[in-house]
Amino acid sequence: MLSRMDDPAGDALHRAFDPEVFRRDGHAAVERLADYLRDALDGGSLPVLPWAPPEAALAAWPAEFPERGGTPFAELLERAIAGSIHLHHPRFVGHQVTAPLPHAALAEFAAALLNNGMAVYEMGPAATAMEHAVVRFLCGALGLGGGAGTDPEPGGVLTSGGSLGNLTALLAARRAGAGFDAWRDGAAAGPPLAFLAGADVHYALARAAGIMGLGADGLVRVPLDARRRLAPEQLKPALAVAARAGRRVLGVAANAGSTPVGAFDPLEEIAEFCAREGLWLHVDGAHGAAAALSPKYRGLVAGIERADSVVWDAHKMLLVPALVTAVLFRDARRSWDPFAEDAPYLFPGAVRGEGEAWFDVAHRTLECTKRMMSFELYAVLAGFGPALLGDYVTRCFDLARRFGELLEETPDFELPVAPEANIVCFRYVPLGGDQDLDAVQERVRRRLIEDGSFYLVQTRLDGAVHLRTTLIHPRTSEADLADLLTAIRRAAAA
Ligand SMILES: Cc1ncc(COP(=O)(O)O)c(C=O)c1O
Repeated sequence: MLSRMDDPAGDALHRAFDPEVFRRDGHAAVERLADYLRDALDGGSLPVLPWAPPEAALAAWPAEFPERGGTPFAELLERAIAGSIHLHHPRFVGHQVTAPLPHAALAEFAAALLNNGMAVYEMGPAATAMEHAVVRFLCGALGLGGGAGTDPEPGGVLTSGGSLGNLTALLAARRAGAGFDAWRDGAAAGPPLAFLAGADVHYALARAAGIMGLGADGLVRVPLDARRRLAPEQLKPALAVAARAGRRVLGVAANAGSTPVGAFDPLEEIAEFCAREGLWLHVDGAHGAAAALSPKYRGLVAGIERADSVVWDAHKMLLVPALVTAVLFRDARRSWDPFAEDAPYLFPGAVRGEGEAWFDVAHRTLECTKRMMSFELYAVLAGFGPALLGDYVTRCFDLARRFGELLEETPDFELPVAPEANIVCFRYVPLGGDQDLDAVQERVRRRLIEDGSFYLVQTRLDGAVHLRTTLIHPRTSEADLADLLTAIRRAAAA
């Protein structure tokens, strides 16, 4: 055996794994992050985004690494904090990514070291059991198919993000309704296929259709009503359009919380239509399925229990770090349908059919190796209970309604749609001005994010640029939002 003296590389490896170094650096990192969290939540002393052009960010992170490293972790952490957008800042009102609970971040930290790669039960017994438990909880919260203990039983899996989750669900729908084996024989082996979807569905749905080989017309857009919800009376004509184009429609993809404005499609009526026409109902609840946890807002997702599949992102409204997405099926057996594989190195036994192992989760996900993502959600649910999440949803949705009222009362702002969830789009319309309003919104947003006072985003509604906010931080207040309007006026005038 080599002594350490003769084996400098082995010695360096030994030191790199030193538990005492980990203990020291880990304590220091948690101390630093706790201070960071305090400052960020307080908001006062930090810009939301320490804006720097991409080239400046590159200069701060050189791609030359000394042969033996040597940069202390504390220094890297400091630089990472200095160059990051601060989601725990109450004036982060941008995209739909939550400020995770510190508790959930601890679970992720532990999961990263344990690194149980899932795929098969043996590679993550606790993570597999936790995944089963949180999936049961989420199905129960939606009342999917009437809840646990019903026949068929609901069930599903966790996967890496809403985009992948939607693809997974649509693959199951294709298997159920195509009438031919598109997986084995290819998408061209039968008639062209399609899904109907509201005009505001996330681009992930169009991508999923593209990946599945359905082509750009494989997602037939259904017009929206005045509240930007899928107009159910337009479903029948859309079905006829698809039929005339020779397409076999597999199902309807509905929104529970659309990305642009947080609109909830009328799920009861869409479920009725799907039942009548024998179509799969998929609900993209990546953002808004969490309404089911709020006693006050549960009604927004009425009908979701009839969905064949639902996607629900925990990193949007369940206070966990990205990415954790549940793909849920009213009939758990459908969750084996999206993928097929022949992998004797991983699954030695038979892989398809009833009674197959629920615990070898990679049968049912695109991922082979998968993070222990269940731990984060389990830690939140076990540590704080579903009521905390329900309160969080209620608070964010309430705040969005009050912001909507404020915008309506304020003559130099326009509110195109009253918010249903915690996403609010609006437009600044300077009084007496005769300006290019799209350019005004773009200029205002750029100034605010570059001076670090707020982080908000923008979108186009019917072609017109709108400012867009997601009120996703538990401490954002009405005063912050009143200040936002003042800051917008000031930025426009500057
Ligand atoms: C409604 C909806 N679906 C899907 C997605 C995509 O989710 P992810 O970013 O987790 O892939 C988003 C993201 O914002 C979304 O709003």
